[in-house]
Amino acid sequence: MATLIVTMRDGDVRKLDAKSGLSVMENIRDAGIDELLALCGGCLSCATCHVHVDEADFDQLPPISEDENDLLGSSDNRTAASRLSCQIPFSDALTGLRVTITPED
Ligand code: FES
Repeated sequence: MATLIVTMRDGDVRKLDAKSGLSVMENIRDAGIDELLALCGGCLSCATCHVHVDEADFDQLPPISEDENDLLGSSDNRTAASRLSCQIPFSDALTGLRVTITPED
């Protein structure tokens, strides 16, 4: 089982046993973490699955799509590390990936 490391809004760090074949958002949701709202269920229409990805891991991720980029543009908390976690397929190759749940917009 691969590991996904999630920093919560209060700074608490959770290490999850993450499954390949699910998105980062789905792994966080399935771990019972409800502060990542993911309201649209992963269909790229809400931006409530916004995370900041650790700089060291960012280049391992698939490139950001135009639609993801547009949706992130509506967030006040966007940084160079921003991604929508529903758009990051998790795989064993990403074990140790670190993401931080962004403040609510
Ligand atoms: S869950 Fe809605 S955009 Fe990711």
